[in-house]
Amino acid sequence: MRVTFTANGKPVEADDVWEGESLLYVLRERVGLPGSKNACEQGECGSCTVYLDGTPVCSCLVAAGQVQDREVRTVEGLTDGEELGLVQQAFVDAGAVQCGFCTPGLLVQTDALLDRSPQPSDTDIREALSGNLCRCTGYEKIMDAVRLASARKCQKVGTSE
Ligand code: FES
Ligand code: FES
Repeated sequence: MRVTFTANGKPVEADDVWEGESLLYVLRERVGLPGSKNACEQGECGSCTVYLDGTPVCSCLVAAGQVQDREVRTVEGLTDGEELGLVQQAFVDAGAVQCGFCTPGLLVQTDALLDRSPQPSDTDIREALSGNLCRCTGYEKIMDAVRLASARKCQKVGTSE
C-alpha cells in the first residue's frame, strides 16, 4: 500500500508498505529519516520516540497505515534551521550522549516536557523520561542536559519578551 503523511513539515510518500510495517521502519528505511533508533522494537526502550500529531509515541508500535494524512516530527525536526536545536545542543554540551542510541527518543521526550513544563522539577524530569532507557550514561548527565535546556529555554523566552 501507499502511505502519505507529513514528516518534519514536508509531505512524504512511501510505496509498497506491507500491512503491519511499523512507522519506525518507514521512517528509517523508506523516507530517509534514520535518526529514530530501533533498540528493542517492542515499545520498551523509547529510542524510537517521535511526535505523532504533537504527541510523543513509540514509532515501533505504530503501524505505518495509521499515520496516513497525519503529522510526524522526528529528532531531525528538532533542529533550528541548519543548527542544532536548543534541546539537542544542551545534550551535547552536558555530555549526555555516549553511544547515542537512546538520544533521539530522549530529545523528543525532553522537547515535549519543556513545551508543557518549561521549568520541570527533577521528579517531573524523571517521570517524563521514565520510558526512555539508557544503558550508558547512568542518567545523571541526561538530568543535567534537561536542566540546561530548561534554563536556556527560560532565558530565551525572557529575553524575547
Ligand atoms: S525501539 Fe521502539 S520502544 Fe524500543
Ligand atoms: S547513550 Fe548509550 S544507551 Fe544512552
